[in-house]
Amino acid sequence: MSAAPVEQTSGGTDATTVLREAARRRTFAVISHPDAGKSTLTEALALHARVIGQAGAVHGKAGRRGTVSDWMDMEKARGISITSAALQFEYRDAVVNLLDTPGHADFSEDTYRVLTAVDAAVMLIDAAKGLEAQTMKLFAVCRHRGIPVITVVNKWDRPGKDALELMDEITERTGLTPTPLTWPVGIAGDFRGVLDRSDGSYRRFTRTAGGATIAPEETLPAEAALAREGDAWQQAVEEVELLAATGADHEQSLFLDGVTTPVLFASAVSNFGVGALLETLVALAPAPADQPDSDGGTRTVTDPFSAFVFKVQAGMDTAHRDRLAFIRICSGVFERGMVVTHARTGRPFATKYAQHVFGRERESIDVAYPGDVVGLVNAAALGVGDTLYAGRPVSYPPLTTFAPEHFAVCRGRDTAKHKQFRRGIEQLDSEGVVQVLRSDRRGDQAPVLAVVGPMQFEVATHRMEHEFGAPVALEPLPYSLALRTDAESVPGISASSGAEVLQRGDGELIAVFANKWGLRVLQQNKPELTLEPLVAAQL
Ligand code: G4P
Repeated sequence: MSAAPVEQTSGGTDATTVLREAARRRTFAVISHPDAGKSTLTEALALHARVIGQAGAVHGKAGRRGTVSDWMDMEKARGISITSAALQFEYRDAVVNLLDTPGHADFSEDTYRVLTAVDAAVMLIDAAKGLEAQTMKLFAVCRHRGIPVITVVNKWDRPGKDALELMDEITERTGLTPTPLTWPVGIAGDFRGVLDRSDGSYRRFTRTAGGATIAPEETLPAEAALAREGDAWQQAVEEVELLAATGADHEQSLFLDGVTTPVLFASAVSNFGVGALLETLVALAPAPADQPDSDGGTRTVTDPFSAFVFKVQAGMDTAHRDRLAFIRICSGVFERGMVVTHARTGRPFATKYAQHVFGRERESIDVAYPGDVVGLVNAAALGVGDTLYAGRPVSYPPLTTFAPEHFAVCRGRDTAKHKQFRRGIEQLDSEGVVQVLRSDRRGDQAPVLAVVGPMQFEVATHRMEHEFGAPVALEPLPYSLALRTDAESVPGISASSGAEVLQRGDGELIAVFANKWGLRVLQQNKPELTLEPLVAAQL
């Protein structure tokens, strides 16, 4: 039998290699409410994959060895991580890409963009708090995008809710059926290990000093577990029987279809259950799949190189003041130095500087495959949502922008700095830090900045002053609602008090209103006006 001809991708790498490399990629993000332990878990995962020698190296927390993660002064001051990046490591035969998401609700639009670039998500829940507001919002994004979710109940080392109660909460509030893969032995606050539901064995944990190193695990058969843990084991066994009776068993197709969520119990700070999470990701999370394009077609993973920009970040390295565009590779091979096409402009784009970026750590990338994230340096021409490709053209659908809820007029405080002002505003707009809205009436010197969360204003103000040398003053506007409109409706809307029409960078006309009552009155009086929601569902 003769071998099938080997198909070449644009980079000269054969399709079999691309397929093999794509199949071993696991690209995911951790979604959680702030303080559930996302940074701690990220460190623990990296520790397990032996990227870092000691937990505490990723997130600069008090009392731990801090190096990476917080770039901007503001982030440091607030102890939040606004910027995000990707951590890549090998685990067994897999290549894991862990995309960082900002924890604060005000940056939910950034988080949404990151979630467009992943194939799976880990929903991290604090055992004592259960499902919190931000977890629910992010979960809604995952459901909307059809991203399969693995749930991790964290902080089991501390007193918390009852495990079965938490399963009920997941069922009731997310609509997902939890299918625990492990079950805790010992109640929350007395975490001894987990019952592995795949074979009924006991994975017993051993505490290490401060959770700084991988916690050794010992696997014991059921009889030995009973002898060792007594009632705690017996209770776990009984609860697992209850789970089995209610059909809470993992079935891969239901997980991929977003019907069920596998559940694991962990204590990220003690490194308990972290190995099981990595194994689960490798075994169950989907590899990169063929991607739908804007024309209703499909770009298969073995097609020539294509990627989309899901994040643009400037000012990450204060010494360099550079601008990075993060791309998620959808098809083909990326080879540093290749010249690709920027779909929006049709211009060539040279990828001379390509990097893995995690916190302050940067490393050149020479080759990357579908599922990987590449940071392109000095990518001034690239904006969020842009497509890059080689070979046959392709364009991926634009990323959804959220409807802003806060608006402010932005004016330069130093009139001599109008050039810096313009450059800064343009930059913040293309990065998606804020949406910039303009109108003839307000003029170019006084654009309106529109945001989902007010902290975005602080980032914009800080960066205008420190990065672009153009200090600004913001004057809040009394609007809270934004809708799409058209040119014919402008006079009708502008004539009503408490409303105005502004234009977004992409040409879209945006009508803004102080509140929904003003909007309702206008719609009743002038039903012919076009006023549509900006996004199908605000997440
Ligand atoms: P985030 O990124 O989701 O915001 O959470 P982060 O990892 O920063 O963790 C928030 C707090 O919860 C930290 O405590 C962290 O140590 C703690 N934590 C994380 N995982 C666990 C866990 O499994 N068990 C327990 N008991 N605590 C956990 P902190 O007091 O804010 O900081 P630190 O001084 O302890 O580092």
